[in-house]
Amino acid sequence: DKAGHKHFMAKEIAEQPAVIGTAIGKYLSPQGDIELSDQDIDFNDFDRIIMVACGTASYACLTAKYWFEQIARLPVEVDVASEFRYREPPIPPRTLAVFVSQSGETADTLAALRYCEGKAARILSVVNVPESSIARESDIALLIHAGVEVGVASTKAFTCQLVVLYMMVLKAARARGTLDAEALADHIFGLRGLPATISHALEKNDTMHAAALKLSHARDVLFLGRGQMYPLALEGALKLKEISYIHAEAYASGELKHGPIALIDENVPVVVMAPRDALFDKTVSNMQEVMARKGKVILISDAKGQAEANDGVWFSIEMPPVPDALAPILYAIPAQLLAYHTAVAKGTDVDQPRNLAKSVTVE
Ligand code: M6R
Repeated sequence: DKAGHKHFMAKEIAEQPAVIGTAIGKYLSPQGDIELSDQDIDFNDFDRIIMVACGTASYACLTAKYWFEQIARLPVEVDVASEFRYREPPIPPRTLAVFVSQSGETADTLAALRYCEGKAARILSVVNVPESSIARESDIALLIHAGVEVGVASTKAFTCQLVVLYMMVLKAARARGTLDAEALADHIFGLRGLPATISHALEKNDTMHAAALKLSHARDVLFLGRGQMYPLALEGALKLKEISYIHAEAYASGELKHGPIALIDENVPVVVMAPRDALFDKTVSNMQEVMARKGKVILISDAKGQAEANDGVWFSIEMPPVPDALAPILYAIPAQLLAYHTAVAKGTDVDQPRNLAKSVTVE
């Protein structure tokens, strides 16, 4: 049932304020304490985390790496499951192994989990489907409570994965003493406001539609982001290519001059994901290098960022303000809507793109 929407993907994008609210509520007590699981997880038991997943779920892991390292000072390695499992990496003692999967049935992710059995100190999964193999075979399974996701392009599962991972990070940071009670309360306050902020972003649907009409004529599109926005650039590029079949690639902004800038000319739209945070000026200077080569920039930023830097850009998409750490969750909305409207404009099969399956149970 598409609940009045044209596609499951549109319905699932629109559901995000509600399901994110549910996911937060499942792990937050009324007193503001984070309770992840009945089985206690003491983050002082671990010296490092490895995170393994595929596709969009791997970008949720990559985002969480920035959070874990910055907020909880805990080193994290992220791997795609198909590489991890055959590399047979050594797993040092006191390693927490985390597997993220919407379906809980992705063959490579499951094989990676099985490889870690008996090697990692603890196996934790972040899954949507409670009775899935990955959930059953983990020591601890944290459900993301996104509800059934039908569209092949993952949307609400991604943002709910991020919410649950962020709450894990806050729990870890508190346990490890890198976040005091007051700072934790600030993070929780921001998190509680997130569903409403996501709703505001969804109200920008017409702007994203207008930008997508321009994008739909492109042959190649680049996505740029820095720091915690780099994984979002990867997610934006994946979403666009999988449903609109436009070639899209993502780069960490700072990598631009190490090669990809050679691609830029007046035919290449460049989507820049840049909230006005500590790295904003750096990203803007990369964006100006793009514009100096006639690249067409779509700048996604907040009002402050737009006011400072949108001179000469091709298109501006203004996001509501949000606490810095939560920007990756909010900026998933324009990534999804740009891809969605571009695909609709091109007339491709949004919910069931060619050559793809919702759950990849073969390797
Ligand atoms: O079910 P999983 O989360 O394990 O699936 C992983 C990927 O196959 C999945 O995220 C894929 O990349 C999506 N089609 C992206 O939208």
